[in-house]
Amino acid sequence: MTKTAMELIDVKKTIGNKDIIRGLSFEIRKGEVFGFIGPNGAGKTTTIRMMVGLMGLSGGDVRILGNSINSDYKSAIREVGAIVENPEMYPFMTGKQNLMHYARMMPRVTKERIQEVIELVGLEKPIKEKAGKYSLGMRQRLGIAQALLHKPSVLILDEPTNGLDPAGIREIRRYIRKLAEEENVAVIISSHLLSEIEQMCDRIGLIKNGEMIAIQDVNAATAETTDVGIEMEAAPVNQAAEILHNEHGINATVVNDRLSLHVERETIPKIVQTLVNYDIQIYQVVTTKSTLEDKFFDLIGENTIG
Ligand SMILES: Nc1ncnc2c1ncn2[C@@H]1O[C@H](COP(=O)(O)OP(=O)(O)O)[C@@H](O)[C@H]1O
Ligand SMILES: [Mg+2]
Repeated sequence: MTKTAMELIDVKKTIGNKDIIRGLSFEIRKGEVFGFIGPNGAGKTTTIRMMVGLMGLSGGDVRILGNSINSDYKSAIREVGAIVENPEMYPFMTGKQNLMHYARMMPRVTKERIQEVIELVGLEKPIKEKAGKYSLGMRQRLGIAQALLHKPSVLILDEPTNGLDPAGIREIRRYIRKLAEEENVAVIISSHLLSEIEQMCDRIGLIKNGEMIAIQDVNAATAETTDVGIEMEAAPVNQAAEILHNEHGINATVVNDRLSLHVERETIPKIVQTLVNYDIQIYQVVTTKSTLEDKFFDLIGENTIG
């Protein structure tokens, strides 16, 4: 049995005389969470609109469980659940009534399935309340529940963390992982902020100017480099920088009474030990950037993502 849930083959989109998507090819596997990352205007939403059949392709093909969106649209689209723009809800109906309303428009959605998706996104309690009272995070979860009603093989979410606070993002992270693992759904999640979605993804694809720049296995990226960026609050800070240079050959920069440096992870306890031996006061040591962020910054140019 194939593991591929969705495949893009040289997908192109031209609007007017502008090449917005310039030949994208990649696949998403069953049970994986694929992060679709890129700066604003990179072409994420345009690609997603083509994946879900909201927009025609100028070239190439999208195959969902092997079904071509060009030649077998109905079979292809049956396997897709998505939230592209803000999920549509009726504020005066309860969460449950909203789901029942959508279920009536789809074939073969049972009462049991409705209950199942409510539990999947953890909305058991608020489901009896009016959707108008929901927080943004709860609305997102209700939207996802709705997109899952017909048991799609692929779930596509366009910037679902937009506007969510850190607690909301943590919550999304938890049930997205659960979905991939328990329902074997292939999840595609787009964002312009790598830091917000990195932790929930198995692989990340980086898009810029309508082209895929890199596809990276998240765990492999963390395993293959041990170099980390750290910031240290230490006093006196200039003396600390000098010691690090003399004792370890490390060139730290001093910014606002803090040291900023790159070291191998194993070196961190050693430099802390050295500084303590010299009676430097250490108030804080924090890692600043993930290795994946560093890698992507190199590929795309500083400050365009994250
Ligand atoms: N209907 C359209 N007509 C012309 N240009 C468009 C249209 N939709 C999107 N674009 C352009 O395509 C590019 C990609 O947009 P979009 O897919 O929304 O990017 P992202 O979702 O990554 O921020 C942008 O330069 C945008 O201005
Ligand atoms: Mg977008």
